Amino acid sequence: MSPKDLAQVLCHLPIFTDANVLVGLNTSDDAGVYKVNDDFAIVFTVDYFTPVVNDPYDFGAIAATNAFSDCYAMGVRPCVALNIVGFPIRTLPAEVLNRILEGGSDKAREAGVSIIGGHTIEDAEPKYGMAVAGFAHPDAIITNSGAQEGDMLILTKPLGIGILTTGIKGSITSEKGESKAIEVMKTLNAEASAIMTQVGANACTDITGFGLLGHLYEMCVASKVGAEIRLSDVPVLGEAWELAKTGIIPAGAYANKEHVSAYVTFAEGIGEIPQIVLCDPQTSGGLLISVSSDKVGTMVSKFSQVGIQGAVIGGITSREAGCIVVVE
Ligand code: CO
Ligand code: CO
Ligand code: CO
Repeated sequence: MSPKDLAQVLCHLPIFTDANVLVGLNTSDDAGVYKVNDDFAIVFTVDYFTPVVNDPYDFGAIAATNAFSDCYAMGVRPCVALNIVGFPIRTLPAEVLNRILEGGSDKAREAGVSIIGGHTIEDAEPKYGMAVAGFAHPDAIITNSGAQEGDMLILTKPLGIGILTTGIKGSITSEKGESKAIEVMKTLNAEASAIMTQVGANACTDITGFGLLGHLYEMCVASKVGAEIRLSDVPVLGEAWELAKTGIIPAGAYANKEHVSAYVTFAEGIGEIPQIVLCDPQTSGGLLISVSSDKVGTMVSKFSQVGIQGAVIGGITSREAGCIVVVE
C-alpha cells in the first residue's frame, strides 16, 4: 500500500502500552521488538508480495531475502521463519508453487534461517513471503530512531529496482538489466548487517516500498533530525535511468514522492526523473545506515573487502525533524 493509504489505516490502531514492547507501531521501524527479559528480545517481522520477476524460483528467493531484511536492518540475524503463501492452484501447475518454495528454502539455508512451518491459501494471484523472527540482547538492536546530527549516510545497494521490475513485466527491460536486478534483489543484507553491528551504527533501515526518500523520511522523523542527500553519490542501476526517461515508472514511485513532497527540497536543476528515481519503490533493497563520521571510513572499507559497494550518499543535519534537502 502507498505510505498515505497505510498511514490512514494505522492511525486508527491503538498503540500497545506493554512496557516490554521496545519497538512497536509508533516509529515506523522495520520490525517489532519485544523484550522477554533483560538479556533477551524477540525481533519479529513479516513481508510478502506478488511476483516481481517471471521465474518462480527467483521470486521465492527474492521474497525470502526481502523478508529477512527487516531483521538485518536492526542489526539482528534472522533465525526462524514461517512461509506465507497464496496460490491459484486451479489455474497454475503445482510445479510453479514447488519452485517458489524451493527458492525461499534455498535462500533460508544460505541465511542460516530455519523454516519451521507456514500457511497456504488459495488465491487469485500468487503471493509469497515469510514471517521472520530473530533474537538479540535488547541493547544491541539498531532502530531507525538513533540518527545523530553529523552522522554520514551509507546505502548498500543501488536504487532502480522498481523501475527495472516494472520494465520486466512489460518485457522492456533488457536481459542484462533483468539479471542484474535479480542478482541485487537476491543478495542478502546479512554481511552488510554484520559489518554494521561490528563497526557500530546509530540508526538503520532497509530501503523497500517507500523508496530511499520515504524510508529516510521515516528515519528523520523517528530520530528528530534532518538530512542532506547528494544525488551524484546515490548509486542507481544504469538501465533505470533510460527506462525512467521513456516513462517506465511504477505507480508507487509517484505515491511515494507525493507523500514526502512537503518535507523534501530539491536543489534547482534536479529534474523530475532523478526526483522520481529517489522515490522508486525497492524490492529487497539495501540498508541505509546512519553512522558517526569517525566510523564511516572503517565501515566503507570493510564493505568493499567483501564486495559490498557502500556508497556515502549524504549526512544527517540538525534541520527541523523530517526535513530532507537533495543537492546535485
Ligand atoms: Co524494512
Ligand atoms: Co518490511
Ligand atoms: Co494453518
